[in-house]
Amino acid sequence: MQAKIDITDLEIVELSEDSDISYFSCGNVELDTFLANIAKIAQMENTSRTHLAYLNGDLVGFFSLICDNIARKYVDAEYQKENYGHKVYPAVKITRLAVHREYQGKGIGHALLYYALGVVYALQRYAACRYVIVDAKPDAINFYKKIGFRSNIAVKNKYLLYFNYNEFRTKYETEIDAGS
Ligand SMILES: CC(C)(COP(=O)(O)OP(=O)(O)OC[C@H]1O[C@@H](n2cnc3c(N)ncnc32)[C@H](O)[C@@H]1OP(=O)(O)O)[C@@H](O)C(=O)NCCC(=O)NCCS
Repeated sequence: MQAKIDITDLEIVELSEDSDISYFSCGNVELDTFLANIAKIAQMENTSRTHLAYLNGDLVGFFSLICDNIARKYVDAEYQKENYGHKVYPAVKITRLAVHREYQGKGIGHALLYYALGVVYALQRYAACRYVIVDAKPDAINFYKKIGFRSNIAVKNKYLLYFNYNEFRTKYETEIDAGS
């Protein structure tokens, strides 16, 4: 098992026009190409918001978020019983998340996921978001499930995973109240 890094050593900043992203490689061509060629344009056009993670000055990971929604029929049946009069729930989608290949297996991926959930926590003050969703690559499904993402059997083959933000908020607020 690889040694985990101290996640408080990570510096996470918003992608800017000046960011040097030329040396990032996670081993997935689609994700690497997105960061190298598309992310800055999408940032300017407000079609995707990318955040970069640095460790001791090295770019070690990134994730991108957009506003989205998830059809009510795709979430767990237990959540469909609520008195909710709309066909979709508001959601934030993690459109991309990757860790540099030399830094994988050190806890950075989960640190980025928690950071993304924290971003949604801040957003909640201004706009409601019930779910955090991701179209996971087949190899990464368990990576997301480990921290509470679920998939609905009806969309299993599409690997649409969803995380009920209300559960995270309850846990997070309990921890803050407990002073942890
Ligand atoms: C998937 C990815 C983001 C994981 O990041 P990482 O920094 O290597 O993951 P972490 O070290 O934070 O791992 C956290 C936990 O998830 C597990 N895990 C990591 N990758 C996994 C995978 N592909 N499948 C299942 N479990 C995985 C780890 O074993 C670890 O478990 P533990 O807490 O019990 O030790 C990274 O491997 C990556 O960038 N891969 C290529 C791009 C990719 O597939 N991105 C996902 C797009 S949907």
